[in-house]
Amino acid sequence: MTGAHGPTDDPAQLSLSQHEIVQLASVAVSGDGDRGTGIVRRLARKYRTLDPLIAEQFIALLRTSPMRKAETAAPVDVESRLPLVREESTPALDNEPIWDDLTSEAMRQLANEHRRADELLAAGLTATRTALFIGPPGVGKTLSARWIARELGKPLALLDLSSVMSSYLGKTGTNLRHVLDYAKSRDCILFLDELDAIAKRRDDVGEIGELKRLVTVLLQEIDAWPSGGLLIAATNHSNLLDPAVWRRFEMVVDFPRPQERQARAALVGFLSGEEGLGPVIDVLAMAYAGTSYSDIERSTARARRASTLQRTPLEETLASDARMRFAELSPQTRRDLAVRLLASTPMSQRRVADLTGVSRDTLRKHATVSRKDGTPS
Ligand SMILES: Nc1ncnc2c1ncn2[C@@H]1O[C@H](COP(=O)(O)OP(=O)(O)O)[C@@H](O)[C@H]1O
Ligand SMILES: [Mg+2]
Repeated sequence: MTGAHGPTDDPAQLSLSQHEIVQLASVAVSGDGDRGTGIVRRLARKYRTLDPLIAEQFIALLRTSPMRKAETAAPVDVESRLPLVREESTPALDNEPIWDDLTSEAMRQLANEHRRADELLAAGLTATRTALFIGPPGVGKTLSARWIARELGKPLALLDLSSVMSSYLGKTGTNLRHVLDYAKSRDCILFLDELDAIAKRRDDVGEIGELKRLVTVLLQEIDAWPSGGLLIAATNHSNLLDPAVWRRFEMVVDFPRPQERQARAALVGFLSGEEGLGPVIDVLAMAYAGTSYSDIERSTARARRASTLQRTPLEETLASDARMRFAELSPQTRRDLAVRLLASTPMSQRRVADLTGVSRDTLRKHATVSRKDGTPS
């Protein structure tokens, strides 16, 4: 290898070391692709400054090769022969995910890292291979996995670990191995849902030996997930996860419940196409803050059906939903929200009182206080 086109012409620096030649020869003979990939990655890093053109060729190799194993058949349960993974070859989203700022930043970076993996490789870095999505049910963990698969144009393989765990543990290990091998053999994103089903604290009583083996298998796989690949795991119960499991993931993404702003965006999305809803959206956004996106979706869908069947305006059906939700809040919270509604929307005192269940007297008193404070009413 000469460096005629590189920044250095010192042939001693540019030649492969004897150690590297032996390493490459051993990979060639053994056919150990994972090791080969590691060596080529090191070479790419070494030649980055010594000879960028050579480094580029290494990077091109890495780009095409990390997932080059032969396609294997889709894995099935060892006993029932039923498919273990659900595969979405071109994931479609019913609606775009709504995120808070932190989640959005994490998701966009994750997508960017994979889209621009070449730039990372050229800097001696690799895109995040393993990510853990944490949050309560119905806040968009699965939706966001679909989103990233769509963004990267890759199929999504979904495995619900709680369903694998239902068969007895010896088989579970075999099943899990099949799924992991399958996912690694293809250029897909693997989504392991309900990770807590398997990765429970290892000091759990019960079938301790078997469970330990399973967790060990999983942790090793997470550690060794091939570069270029992406394994996403999700859990509703992050407190059940052994800290050793958390640490294994390169990125942890939090999916919080919607705040008022996100609840509003969700309402606007789920009610798109409906006219004349006006301030009832603001009322609902307050009422649904702190619930979940799937709750909001379910409620808006139900309201649409009810309004159609009862031939009442959707605005009124939604208003009665809001009334019910406000009734569940503490008097203090209810009053604070009502005062804020009065101040921030064009609704009359009567309407605000009707929707929130806060008396006009109370409203009048507190609105006066805010006015005296100089707060706009
Ligand atoms: N962040 C979100 N933005 C928009 N819609 C959401 C969001 N989270 C959940 N949904 C709605 O709720 C449904 C279920 O969400 P899902 O992603 O399965 O939640 P999780 O996996 O966190 O339990 C989604 O298909 C979507 O319609
Ligand atoms: Mg889910």
